[in-house]
Amino acid sequence: MNIRAVKIEDAADMNRLRTMDGVRENILGMISERVTDTEAFIRNLSSNDHMLVAEIDGSVVGGVVLMISKMPRESRTAGLGIMVHADHQRQGVGRALMAAVLDLADNWLMLKRVELSVFVDNNPAVALYQSMGFVVEGTKKFAAIRNGVYMDEYLMARYRM
Ligand SMILES: CC(C)(COP(=O)(O)OP(=O)(O)OC[C@H]1O[C@@H](n2cnc3c(N)ncnc32)[C@H](O)[C@@H]1OP(=O)(O)O)[C@@H](O)C(=O)NCCC(=O)NCCS
Repeated sequence: MNIRAVKIEDAADMNRLRTMDGVRENILGMISERVTDTEAFIRNLSSNDHMLVAEIDGSVVGGVVLMISKMPRESRTAGLGIMVHADHQRQGVGRALMAAVLDLADNWLMLKRVELSVFVDNNPAVALYQSMGFVVEGTKKFAAIRNGVYMDEYLMARYRM
């Protein structure tokens, strides 16, 4: 597995990941998302946005993004999102992506706080985050729609002092 910065040529693979069953439900994805939407997202990443992908045999099987807040007084805080191809889950891809992006956050950006939201029943993701030092700070009630239900989300964060 190779972990590297995202490229514009990854848009089709990333779009497939975002919209596939087993990923879309838990990342606020929509079946209608177009490759051009993903291309625009990649193109619009700024120098304060850090996106890495995991590649196996030339195909992108996972991605993680760390986005530093644009508010000057939150400049040591970043939001994080992650996804792994449904056929490649539970093979260590997610942990490798998290380790790479948290090394960036800790040692190359020296962020104080990395935060994320996760559906309260997304046990694999919650377990991964907890194992990497994230704690649950609170619950957002009725935070987002998933398949006909308003779902609660945990707000989780990891601090480095
Ligand atoms: C959550 C996700 C990123 C984990 O990636 P992954 O590559 O499957 O995870 P890994 O194989 O690296 O496993 C890392 C840890 O995650 C946890 N985990 C992963 N799959 C799990 C499962 N099915 N049940 C319980 N824990 C699980 C475990 O703590 C695991 O560590 P362990 O293998 O030492 O027990 C992946 O399942 C995914 O993309 N899910 C769909 C999208 C999503 O939910 N994104 C996060 C939105 S907040």
